[in-house]
Amino acid sequence: MQGKICLVTGATGGIGRETARGLAARGATVIVVGRDRARGEAAVESIRSDTGSSSVELMLADLSSQAAIRQLAAAVLGRHPRLDVLVNNAGALFPRRGFTVDGIERTFALNHLGYFLLTTLLLDRLRKSAPARIVNVASAAHRWGRMRLDDLQAERRYVAFLAYSNSKLANLLFTYELARRLEGSGVTANAVHPGTVASEFGTVGGWFGLAFGAVKPFLLSPTEAAATSIYLASSPEVAGTNGKYFIKCRERRSSGASQDHEAAARLWQASEALTRAAAATGAPAPSA
Ligand SMILES: NC(=O)c1ccc[n+]([C@@H]2O[C@H](COP(=O)([O-])OP(=O)(O)OC[C@H]3O[C@@H](n4cnc5c(N)ncnc54)[C@H](OP(=O)(O)O)[C@@H]3O)[C@@H](O)[C@H]2O)c1
Repeated sequence: MQGKICLVTGATGGIGRETARGLAARGATVIVVGRDRARGEAAVESIRSDTGSSSVELMLADLSSQAAIRQLAAAVLGRHPRLDVLVNNAGALFPRRGFTVDGIERTFALNHLGYFLLTTLLLDRLRKSAPARIVNVASAAHRWGRMRLDDLQAERRYVAFLAYSNSKLANLLFTYELARRLEGSGVTANAVHPGTVASEFGTVGGWFGLAFGAVKPFLLSPTEAAATSIYLASSPEVAGTNGKYFIKCRERRSSGASQDHEAAARLWQASEALTRAAAATGAPAPSA
């Protein structure tokens, strides 16, 4: 990975930090994206001291804010003439329904629109850097998801795990549609289920937090879980692999719903509309 520039979102902790560490250990220049300066600086420091690499830098953005994503993308494009790997990893489960600064339900906004907007803003740079790779961290939870294009804001009913599962189904639909659009460009897009992981992910309170806390000692470590993202981002074995879903570094079949081309195309259109709309309203960027 010498000479390669890799951006990893949600790299201040959990799977993302271990993905960033793994890519830095392989010689890549790594952009750690986080929303909190102190956690970001701690992550960068830990990766630098573990890997001996000085090519690890921090960029701040709250990825639930479209204005912040636009600022992040502009900073990346301004600072780096190339981008070889984009790992969309930042995600969360929210016990209660809530809204972002753009007025969008926050699970869908962070977990799907965050991936969509950052990727589309960086896509030209990735294309110009080809061969390049996009890795989207999804989840096996997508199997419980339903793509309710008429209820993207979960107005009818909000059940935290289902909203999360829907957003992870959106990750797969987005990855496959992106891969179709990128065919022949030298840029690939693949998705990952990292496993069930003892990260900060489940520390959200409620019944999900309780259940997660109970099983946490038996789960994969974030280092183990990062292996598939690192593999897809760096291994020559998957240099030409495009539009696939991986678990434990092996290609797997995702749900039937995730392979619905029409739903994927409609989700793309809806995502474009929701991100254009926020750009037009000039929604404010958060303090990060
Ligand atoms: N853990 C699992 O069992 C599991 C299973 C399947 C899939 N996944 C997926 O794996 C990915 C990583 O999860 P994880 O387990 O590593 O969770 P984690 O330990 O909670 O880490 C999440 C990362 O995302 C960042 N993040 C959260 N909200 C953000 C925001 N609004 N703006 C910018 N960054 C934000 C966090 O930053 P802060 O440090 O500021 O909080 C943190 O760096 C997620 O996409 C998740 O859906 C996880």
